[in-house]
Amino acid sequence: MLKRLATTVAIIALAATLTPPAVAQDAEHAVKARKGVLQTMAWHFGPLVAMARGDLDYDAERAARHAEMLEGLPQYLPELFIEASSTAERNDTRALPVIWEDFDGFVEKYEALIGEIETLVAVAGDGHGALAPQVVATGEACGACHDTYRAR
Ligand code: HEC
Repeated sequence: MLKRLATTVAIIALAATLTPPAVAQDAEHAVKARKGVLQTMAWHFGPLVAMARGDLDYDAERAARHAEMLEGLPQYLPELFIEASSTAERNDTRALPVIWEDFDGFVEKYEALIGEIETLVAVAGDGHGALAPQVVATGEACGACHDTYRAR
């Protein structure tokens, strides 16, 4: 009984220490977090684009590694687009209000990207001829979302 009480007290104490970061999941943090994810996606996508264009020598191992890194990054992207974090409310973002007016459409663009990245991971190590068209398809999935949901 006493032991259980002690456990309960310990859990409440732990919850109290955990509360501040949970509360800190506000729009400013969401914007910073999603920009970080998107910038890191661009970091890994950049060399793949350069290889596809022939500006960087094709390297199967490096291509496969960047594709795999890219795959892990956007997993939680839609979650970072929380309410009240659009260009209508903030000046540190290019996320247009239409994201929240049409969240299903936004998630569809996101899922299309995930599909293209899966294919990219599958073919990245199979030579320049396999990589290049899939880099284009992936880039188009980035652009399709930006066209509608990101301010210029
Ligand atoms: C589902 C929609 C969607 C997809 C798909 C998408 N993006 Fe974006 N991206 C956005 C939005 C919305 C913003 C604006 C975010 C903000 O300013 O809060 C953005 C912003 C960015 C930024 C600027 C971040 C900053 O620091 O301001 C980069 C870089 C970027 N995206 C790269 C990419 C790349 C590379 C891909 C494809 C591999 C991609 N995005 C796919 C929606 C998307």
